[in-house]
Order: sequence, then structure tokens, then C-alpha cells
Amino acid sequence: MILLEAKNIAQIWKNETKQELDSLKISGLREPHLAIIQVGDNPASSIYVKHKMKACAEVGIKTTNYNFSNISEPALIQLVESINYDPLVDGILVQLPLPAPILKRNIIKYINPLKDVDGFHPSNIGALATGHPTFIPATPLGVQFLLKKYNIDIQQKNVVVIGRSNIVGRPLFYLFSNPPNNNTVTLCHRYTKNLPEIASKADILMVAIGKPNFVTQDFVKEGAVVVDVGINRLQIADNQSKIVGDVDFEHVKSKCSAITPVPGGVGLMTVSALLSNTLLAFKRIHGI
Ligand SMILES: NC(=O)c1ccc[n+]([C@@H]2O[C@H](COP(=O)([O-])OP(=O)(O)OC[C@H]3O[C@@H](n4cnc5c(N)ncnc54)[C@H](OP(=O)(O)O)[C@@H]3O)[C@@H](O)[C@H]2O)c1
Repeated sequence: MILLEAKNIAQIWKNETKQELDSLKISGLREPHLAIIQVGDNPASSIYVKHKMKACAEVGIKTTNYNFSNISEPALIQLVESINYDPLVDGILVQLPLPAPILKRNIIKYINPLKDVDGFHPSNIGALATGHPTFIPATPLGVQFLLKKYNIDIQQKNVVVIGRSNIVGRPLFYLFSNPPNNNTVTLCHRYTKNLPEIASKADILMVAIGKPNFVTQDFVKEGAVVVDVGINRLQIADNQSKIVGDVDFEHVKSKCSAITPVPGGVGLMTVSALLSNTLLAFKRIHGI
């Protein structure tokens, strides 16, 4: 069984981004600039934003954090539009979730698609769906990068994705079904009947549902590759918790040919993918 650990690979990817940015700077270009918008006081979001800003600083991407405890939807849209027109900002990221009553789709549709480094704008999702991706959402992009670096064959396989969110499951479906991957992908959700039976046909099983240890041995074919996107905090004692995935790792690992750990797997790839997308936005804006 291969443990698909991401630490070194995420670092290699970061280094590649840094090297390219360094050479662009030598050629006289300014540093790329990413605007990160955060609303509310979700502690997990604050940790993610901190990690993203630290990673940006490491590779030479400037960040500006717009942090609001409270803001109205129209005011947030106005902010997004003003950043859209700022020639000194290359990427815009709205940290999710947004607190009610703000609807994320109402905000995301206002992001300039050329600056949409998360790849969530409907036109970028459409481009991915039709096989001509512009920005691929960071988590699916990170999954693909990780599997390729471990030389996992990701073409013409039977792939099952559990979870159909717009940020993970659905873009995984498009990315892995379209050329050049050409897998046969089944997208499952909470209304899918006979889920273990469908999942257990998969050569590659990807899980992104947010339910700790949900996927058990009977979901997994002998020799399958299992990608666990889930990040769940599980209470194990009164004041003790640990991070676990959506897959019951301890009981499933013996059946897999390869499996991502949680933590230490897909989560680490997502930040490196964001850096790569920000570099891409910068290059596009500068016609490189
Ligand atoms: N590693 C990373 O970098 C990263 C990035 C993003 C998210 N995550 C993690 O990935 C997990 C999923 O996140 P998300 O944003 O995609 O979640 P989400 O928006 O809540 O979507 C969850 C999806 O799972 C499906 N689902 C829920 N319960 C199910 C069940 N019992 N059987 C089958 N399908 C079920 C839902 O189906 P319906 O559509 O039918 O409701 C939905 O499509 C979370 O743990 C999150 O923390 C990790």
C-alpha cells in the first residue's frame, strides 16, 4: 500500500511556483498580488486564511486581507467590483463559508473571471466542464497533481466521486472525466442508492462529504486508490479532538493500493494549487 503523503510534493510545487516568480521578477515585473476577503468569525476560516497568506509570502506573492466581522451583501459586491478594476491586484479569493444571509453565489458571480483564482465563477466552472479549463479549483487541481507525482495511472479508469459540491466533488467530476484523463466518472451524493455497491466498483475512489470515517471497508474494491478530501474535527475525549477524513483510514488502508492520509494529504496540496493559480492569473494579466 502506498501512502500518498503530500508534504514533500506540496513543497516541490511551491518551489516551482517560487522559481517562476523569481525569474519574472528578475525580468522587471512587479510581484503578484492576491486579495483575500474574509467575512465573519469562523475559526477554521481564520486558520485557512493564515496558512494561505503565509504560503503566499513564502513564494513572493503579496496579499491583502479584507477581514470583516460583518458586512452587507451589496457592500461586499461593491468591494469585489472595486478590486476587479484594481490593476495592481491579480487574484481575488473569497474565503468560504460566508455567513448568512450572504449567499456565496451572489458574491462569486461578481468576481472578474480573470482574477478568480479559486475557479468558482460560473464561467470558469463552465470552461472546466466543457473541457477547456481556465482556473481549475484548487482542491481538485491538487488531487490531480498529487496522484500524477506518485505515478498513479489516472486515465481511462473507473472513478467514483462521493460528494457533489461546487468546490470539490463537481469539479473533480469534470477534471477526471474530460480529456486527457478520460475516466468514466460516477458522481454520488446523499440521494445515491446503493452507495457502497457503486463505490466498490471504483479503481479510484474520491470522497468529499464532510462526514468523519463515513467510508468503510465495504465501499472499497481490493487494490483501489482512495483519495480522502474530508477534513473533520472529531471529539475523542472531553477536551480532546483530532482531525480525521471522510474515510475510515485504519480499516480501509489494507484494501487499498494507495490512499491519502488525513491530515497530511489533499489538504496540503490545496494551498500549493492556490499559489499556482495565482501565478497563472498574474501571467495571463501580463500576457505571458
Ligand atoms: N482538503 C481540502 O483542501 C479541502 C477543501 C475543501 C473541502 N474539504 C473538506 O471536504 C469535505 C467536503 O467539503 P465540501 O465543501 O465539498 O462539502 P459540502 O459543500 O458540504 O458538500 C458535501 C457533499 O457531500 C454529499 N453528502 C453528504 N452526506 C452524504 C452521504 N451520507 N452520502 C453521500 N453523499 C453525501 C452532499 O450531497 P448533497 O449534494 O446531496 O447534499 C454534498 O454533495 C469537508 O470535510 C471539507 O472540510 C477539504
